[in-house]
Amino acid sequence: MTDSDDPDAVSDLDTASTVRMRWNTPLSQEHADLLLRRLDIRPGSRILDLGCGWGELLLQAVAAGGTEGPVPTTGIGVDTCAADLQRGRELAATRSLSGHVRFVEQDAATWREPADRVLCVGASHTLGGTVPALKALAELVRPGGRVLFGDACWERPPTPEAAAIFGEEALPIADLVEQLRSLGWRVLHLSTADQREWDDFESTWRAGRQEWLLAHPDDPRAGEVREKLDAQLSDYVGVYRGILSLGYFVLGR
Ligand SMILES: C[S@@+](CC[C@H](N)C(=O)[O-])C[C@H]1O[C@@H](n2cnc3c(N)ncnc32)[C@H](O)[C@@H]1O
Repeated sequence: MTDSDDPDAVSDLDTASTVRMRWNTPLSQEHADLLLRRLDIRPGSRILDLGCGWGELLLQAVAAGGTEGPVPTTGIGVDTCAADLQRGRELAATRSLSGHVRFVEQDAATWREPADRVLCVGASHTLGGTVPALKALAELVRPGGRVLFGDACWERPPTPEAAAIFGEEALPIADLVEQLRSLGWRVLHLSTADQREWDDFESTWRAGRQEWLLAHPDDPRAGEVREKLDAQLSDYVGVYRGILSLGYFVLGR
């Protein structure tokens, strides 16, 4: 678990948005276990996670591949957020994975070393958007390898308000599947985040800041934080809840 309930964890407003999140995507542990099984991570695999955040899924992927045998599984997480990467290093240390996982501060678009399993979850924008990301991933996965691609898509046709928040980037899920096929990917697995995963993702994203607000009502920043939280919650329940989806695809080629 990384969504700790340590009351001191939200004393810093800068990190409060993510401190209650297990990972920065709508995903239950059960769903993550399924995706990792479908990725079929073999011992000795090299796993790359582009836009890894604090790398919770990467750490679980490396553990799933096994680090005890003669050829240990290894992981590399790439992100531009130094604080998230540091959180990842600390998590790795608590799981005795420091020797197996490296966290690198780098623009994902400049990464060139291929891997056996590549994760890109909620991070297609780091490679220029959905289609450029799918092209880049084809160069970054070794022959016979697999990719876990998690990308926002429309479960239902978006209202103009929802399209205004998420722009032109998200595709209807059927169009996204067509794009995958036309770019030479085979879909080995497809699932979408369900409502409870979305509600938990949205709630944990706000939870640290909500706790901070309750603990610091007289802070000069409190008014701005309250307004932002209220607007984000209204947008979620009023504009895109049940419309925006997150598709998880295990891909081969
Ligand atoms: C929605 S989060 C997903 C994080 C992670 N994949 C997960 O599932 O928890 C997107 C991540 O992309 C990172 N990011 C944004 N621009 C980037 C870039 N150019 N290169 C690498 N990472 C970037 C952010 O710092 C953030 O951690």
